[in-house]
Amino acid sequence: MTLPNSPEHAFLDLGSETLEIPFVPASEGGAGLAINHLRPKTGYVVYDPGFSSVAPCKSSITYLDGENGILRYRGYPIEQIAEHLSFMEVSYLFIHDALPTKEQLDVFTNMVRDNMMLPENMRKFFDAIPKNAPPMAILSSGIEMMTAYRRREKEPIDDPDFIPSAVYRLLAEAPTIAAWSHKTSVDEPLVYPDGRLDYASNILHMLTWTPINNYEVDPVMARALDVLLILHGDHEQNCSTSTVRMVASSRADLHACISSGINSLWGSLHGGANQAVIEMLQTILDNDRDIGRVLSRARDRNDPFRLMGFGHRVYKTYDPRARIIKQAAHDVLATYMPNDPLLELAMELEEAALQDDYFQSHNLYPNVDFYSGLIYRAMGLPAKMFTVMFAIGRLPGWIAQWREANLDPESRIVRPRQVYVGPAKRDIIPIEERG
Ligand code: SDX
Repeated sequence: MTLPNSPEHAFLDLGSETLEIPFVPASEGGAGLAINHLRPKTGYVVYDPGFSSVAPCKSSITYLDGENGILRYRGYPIEQIAEHLSFMEVSYLFIHDALPTKEQLDVFTNMVRDNMMLPENMRKFFDAIPKNAPPMAILSSGIEMMTAYRRREKEPIDDPDFIPSAVYRLLAEAPTIAAWSHKTSVDEPLVYPDGRLDYASNILHMLTWTPINNYEVDPVMARALDVLLILHGDHEQNCSTSTVRMVASSRADLHACISSGINSLWGSLHGGANQAVIEMLQTILDNDRDIGRVLSRARDRNDPFRLMGFGHRVYKTYDPRARIIKQAAHDVLATYMPNDPLLELAMELEEAALQDDYFQSHNLYPNVDFYSGLIYRAMGLPAKMFTVMFAIGRLPGWIAQWREANLDPESRIVRPRQVYVGPAKRDIIPIEERG
């Protein structure tokens, strides 16, 4: 017996009973089915290992349409944002849900800039770090460490009109921690932020300047980095953002939530893919550029190899960010690394994959990670720093999601259930009697 769905409800026919399931309306995209009463009422749970059909929250920050390749931050299309805004404007937009006036932007930018200096004592933290330590580990632990240095009196984080000071400190400290981890790994002196520079220029300055090269920031590179940071700003309930929100649900502090998000992003299936793409391209280049063999390995379900930088849980067409980054890679490399063999190989690989039946039938297209590493590499960054740059770009999105989770009246501590498939009740056998 299946009752007709009404505009407000769906009905789940379980044979012995029918469960009424209210709809959760959406302003765009799929509405929700509120099933939180499913287990208490029926004992059943919903089984969805990758949460591909689960919405743990309502959100008004980012909208994705994976079928049509649409991405909007607070309703603004990513293409317009990348063309017209700076990363600081986008950060303000995420956190305040409004585009800033010139004066508001100046105040916001100065609040961030004024916090970019780390406590001088933090140098000892970097002195203790082995040179080959992974920068993502340094970033997550360095950010956690900052709570020790800057613990302040309790702030009204539940006040929607109050921006916790930790928000500005995070946006400010992360680039300095990242740059100092890089300088530590290349045995160069740590470089302080320069108050005269904008956000992206300061990152390049701290990563690159030495007393010998007296590096002057190239405005073309600075804008390329600013756009990359913008394109990584937020992406709905991806793995690392879901991690941030899950940790936030226990009322952990912002730095702890962000540090957890960084560790989640590090995985090669997620933000770590941008490093894996460059390493994959270099391996292909070193092995006779055999693209046919690479694609055949990618198609082989018995081979763990995946074409890194391809495929996406949500996008079943070209990732709109990849389209913008591909053009930016072209523009930057045309000037700084003309005839780059890795860019040529990446484009050949993309063309071959997009014509391959397997990739077409699985809707596998380039994602945000496929071309981004080529630009970071042209900036002189080692591959192990690429995911760190992704994390810096994702900070304002994580922060906005953290605030939204804290301010959401429906937010509860995240505590999923399971489908138990272990042994039934059994008694302990004394060790003397165990075979
Ligand atoms: C990011 O979620 C986000 O929004 C993430 C992100 C963000 O901004 O936060 O966009 C950033 O993480 C981008 C993704 C970066 N990761 C990679 O580039 C790694 C390579 N891609 C894949 O591992 C994979 O596509 C994922 C992890 C991105 C998505 O995995 P899903 O959704 O769980 O898909 P799946 O692994 O179940 O694959 C479905 C099918 C499988 O084949 P069948 O068993 O069904 O025959 O597609 C195949 C997979 O084998 N497949 C691939 C593939 N990706 C999927 N086959 C070869 N190469 C690939 N890259």
